[in-house]
Amino acid sequence: MNGPVANDRSRGGPGLKAGDRQSAVASLAAGMAHELNTPLGAIHSNHDVIRRALARLQDILADEVVTPDELNDVRRVVRALDGVLGTNDLAVRRMRELVDNLRRFDAHAAERVSLNICDVIEDTVRLLHHRLAGITVVREFQEVEPVECGPGRLHQVVANILVNAAQAVREQGGQPQDITITVDTAPNGMVRTSFRDTGPGIPERVLDRVFEPGFTTKGDRVGMGIGLSVCRDIIEGAAGEIVISNGPNGQTPRGAKVTVLLPPARKAHEEESP
Ligand SMILES: Nc1ncnc2c1ncn2[C@@H]1O[C@H](COP(=O)(O)OP(=O)(O)OP(=O)(O)O)[C@@H](O)[C@H]1O
Ligand SMILES: [Mg+2]
Repeated sequence: MNGPVANDRSRGGPGLKAGDRQSAVASLAAGMAHELNTPLGAIHSNHDVIRRALARLQDILADEVVTPDELNDVRRVVRALDGVLGTNDLAVRRMRELVDNLRRFDAHAAERVSLNICDVIEDTVRLLHHRLAGITVVREFQEVEPVECGPGRLHQVVANILVNAAQAVREQGGQPQDITITVDTAPNGMVRTSFRDTGPGIPERVLDRVFEPGFTTKGDRVGMGIGLSVCRDIIEGAAGEIVISNGPNGQTPRGAKVTVLLPPARKAHEEESP
């Protein structure tokens, strides 16, 4: 098997030098495109469900008489539409948050809200439903304190990590195709979230480069190489820490593990007030 080819957009160029307006705008646009991809992808795949549901309803209603079986079908289709609409609501809310964040970039850059990480994970898994199809997402959630982060930011972190995990699990191609998300409190009191996958893991030679902006092993068409760098910016901006590692040597599949540590909201406040 050929090893992954690293495509490093951060190397050799001036990158995001202060005052380089053009590259700042390009980077902002790339970030926006990356973020919008999750809710937009959910709406796009749901469109298909809605179209098929509508066709089925039209089919049934074309007859003069509706049989009991068809009536059951109508109920099933309406239930499915209800679920799809709920997900689309969530997606539209996310896109509105993204646009709001962008609009208020300067004025509210430091704004934070109190969030339950488990709720953020559930919302994000729902939005990524189409990308996680066929993958078992195992939740091992303990009750934890709320954390604080900019609106929508934590969703973005969870989405970027889950998309990477899904891509890795599919790449491996075998079974099982699992992503295990664990939420608990670390010994130092931080809220700890770990994402383990059953993909091939990260090649040792690139392990210390995965957070570099523009670094990708996925090729231009798949990866922009900004997912993990955005995660790190967001988590460090919230006084947290993000680390990535592989499963134990000899474990098959080896799998990657991303751990996010965030201070509980209470602690973040204590540190802010003198
Ligand atoms: N779960 C994982 N398993 C294996 N490799 C991973 C995993 N997560 C990240 N990586 C490696 O880290 C690199 C950087 O990840 P990052 O999310 O920043 O960019 P990307 O996924 O390549 O592109 P983008 O997220 O912008 O679409 C990936 O190209 C891949 O080599
Ligand atoms: Mg990625």
